[in-house]
Amino acid sequence: MKILIATEKPFAKTAVDGIRKIVENAGYELCLLEKYTDTSQLLSAVADANALIVRSDKVTKQVIDAAKNLKIVVRAGAGFDNLDLNACTENNIVAMNTPGQNSNAVAELVLGLMIFMNRNKFNAGTGAELKGKKLGIHAYGNVGRLVARIAKGFDMQILAFDPFVKKETIQADGVTVVDNVEELYANCNYVSLHIPANDITKKSINRKLLNLMPKGGCLINTARKEVIDEDDLIKLLEERTDMKYATDVAPSNISELQQKFDMRVFATPKKIGAETAEANINAGLAAANQIVNFFKNGDKTFQINK
Ligand code: 3PG
Repeated sequence: MKILIATEKPFAKTAVDGIRKIVENAGYELCLLEKYTDTSQLLSAVADANALIVRSDKVTKQVIDAAKNLKIVVRAGAGFDNLDLNACTENNIVAMNTPGQNSNAVAELVLGLMIFMNRNKFNAGTGAELKGKKLGIHAYGNVGRLVARIAKGFDMQILAFDPFVKKETIQADGVTVVDNVEELYANCNYVSLHIPANDITKKSINRKLLNLMPKGGCLINTARKEVIDEDDLIKLLEERTDMKYATDVAPSNISELQQKFDMRVFATPKKIGAETAEANINAGLAAANQIVNFFKNGDKTFQINK
């Protein structure tokens, strides 16, 4: 049984060592394709793989078609917009993610970005504090919940909007639930995005919504770049010279944004939200365990293409 890790952005070595242990203890073989630069490398690597572990690597129909022996693909992470789920289903391949395993790393980065923007990107000049400010959490999943927990330590007031999570669940965390997305943006100094990228959410964060934010509003995006209407974002930052945008998922027009808005815009050079040893280990080992459990016991607990 061949288990392939295909990661353009590799896991930390400790995570790979841990995955290897799990795979080899199960009597399987681990193959590694790291830092590949061309899809053709992935296409040939998957040819004889029975299981595949990826991060944000694109598992397209072409990849699935090339993987004749593939039975399971696990996205070691939360968002699975990089997997062609229909192609997986058509080829009887089980697709899974590892929800919650890298959430804390992303949540900590959110607070880091907020402080960075609040303190003039760590340059001289008068900044602002988080204490007492209102933070809106747009989607209260694993990351959103942890952002709320950490932000409470900063004495922030937390509001959240998530139509898929029970009101009582959010309220139990001491977070104020708002009834619609407009209310969230209109009432918060900061909004942190935690929505997935799908047909409904793509480009949904637009000028109309962002313009509701109070003076000095700051949007933090550690989710996906596709959820932002990038043309609208430029227009908004032109009109609202008080607003800021910090992201871990750089928009396509980042150089234009940086040129025009300098201190009000920040993007990490490469997505680093889940780039901690802990997150790599948690997500990587979970992926390996899920694969072993699937082959040995038929366990499909985290299947996403049902
Ligand atoms: C996720 O969806 O889990 C995060 O965006 C992390 O993505 P990465 O594994 O590419 O860092």
